[in-house]
Amino acid sequence: MKIAVTRRIPEAGLKVLEAFGEVKTLAMHQTDDGIASEALLKLVEGAQAILSTVGERMDAATMDAAGPQLKIIANMAVGYDNISLAEAAKRNILVTNTPGVLTEATADLAWTLILGAARRAGEAERVLRAGQWKGWGPLQFLGVDLYKKNLGLFGLGRIGQAVARRGRGFDMTVLYHDVNRLSASAEEALNARWVEKDELIAEADILSLHCPLTPETRHAFTLAEFRKMKPSVVIVNSARGPVIKEDDLCQALDEGLVFAAGLDVFEEEPVINPRLFDHERAFLLPHIGSATIETRDTMARMAAENIVAALSGDTPENLVPLPL
Ligand code: DGY
Repeated sequence: MKIAVTRRIPEAGLKVLEAFGEVKTLAMHQTDDGIASEALLKLVEGAQAILSTVGERMDAATMDAAGPQLKIIANMAVGYDNISLAEAAKRNILVTNTPGVLTEATADLAWTLILGAARRAGEAERVLRAGQWKGWGPLQFLGVDLYKKNLGLFGLGRIGQAVARRGRGFDMTVLYHDVNRLSASAEEALNARWVEKDELIAEADILSLHCPLTPETRHAFTLAEFRKMKPSVVIVNSARGPVIKEDDLCQALDEGLVFAAGLDVFEEEPVINPRLFDHERAFLLPHIGSATIETRDTMARMAAENIVAALSGDTPENLVPLPL
């Protein structure tokens, strides 16, 4: 059995694969930086299973490079927009993800972005580290309050709900827009109210994105939307970069249409739009939503277990539905 692991992953996952038997983990020597696509195509050659991450495109070329024996692509992520499901379906390749286990870590990170952007933490720390801080000042680094404000959530799946629960600690009013509406009792438990996208945009003081990347959500937020927001709004994205049209966000920051932005994901990862660096009020993190020791261990183990199940002829637990 040949299993291609596209990155260095936590031991917890590797151990599961190694215990499975004749497993060749091809990426033992890889670093965190990922691998160029040519190396990826070479890596997957002849593999029955690929353990991938959000950084690699699992498209027709990758699947063909692997060959017809490829049974499963197990993404070590909840999102799977890096995988062409149609191409997997054509080739009868199973696709799995790691839902649930990264919910709390990602919600914590969304709140790191909310707090960091609202209170201009990145900017303030940069000044301090540069030795430019001259002491306390009444007008220094003024941010915006969160207490009792409107927390707007675009997407209220597992992660959105976990973000909403944390909002209670700030006595916030939760407004959400999602194609799927929660039951009345679930809304009540979260104290969340479903609104149209336009109302969400107009009323949010904090707007945090928690939707998957789909053709419908790509560029859901452009200049047209930013123009309708409160100028004091803080926009936070820990979902997928292309949900926001980044150039438009930069223009909105230039023109003061929004107060600040907190981003953990970007349109062309790992390339960062240089215009974002011009903005002190852009609080930027390198896609670390699920990056805690415990969570990454669990994600790696889960992806590995999905592979073991598929290669043993069982149904993996976290199958992603494929188009017919
Ligand atoms: C995911 O799981 O989809 C994240 O973006 C990576 O942890």
